[in-house]
Amino acid sequence: MLKMEQNEKISKYSNLLTQIKELVTGVEYGVSSLANVSSLLHKEMNFFWTGFYLVSGNNLLLGPFQGDLACIKIPFGKGVCGTAWQKSETIIVDDVEKFPGHIACSALSKSEIVVPVFNNSGKITAVLDIDSENFSTFDQTDKTYLEQIVGFLSCYDKFV
Ligand code: SME
Repeated sequence: MLKMEQNEKISKYSNLLTQIKELVTGVEYGVSSLANVSSLLHKEMNFFWTGFYLVSGNNLLLGPFQGDLACIKIPFGKGVCGTAWQKSETIIVDDVEKFPGHIACSALSKSEIVVPVFNNSGKITAVLDIDSENFSTFDQTDKTYLEQIVGFLSCYDKFV
């Protein structure tokens, strides 16, 4: 994603909130919703890689995504994704090289945000992982809006 003005970012995210709410409402099969959400987010925000890793036992498994091929399995507590799962919180990484244990799926990826997806019982069912080919792409605006977006996925008890 090229550096986007804050105003433009907020306006795009605001529109996405409405669209994603409609997109997910009434969809019974959660993985279908993840597929559509990854597509919409990826295209609208022009991200480098946008996808979901799904909680399965002690691992995260590659789910619906847009972008280049990615690693299939990430253990609990490993990489940025596994750490966000372990800490139950959003992680923003300005420079992936500086994150101990970062899992490099693409050498082009420079910064990253990972947002946990919770169900209505408060359990993490997946994480949303977004990569950028620029450093320091993600900030508190992304965190705020992406957390609201994944909030629409809390209706799914589990994905795997
Ligand atoms: N970088 C992630 C792995 C997934 S790829 O970025 C698609 C991580 O460290 O968990």
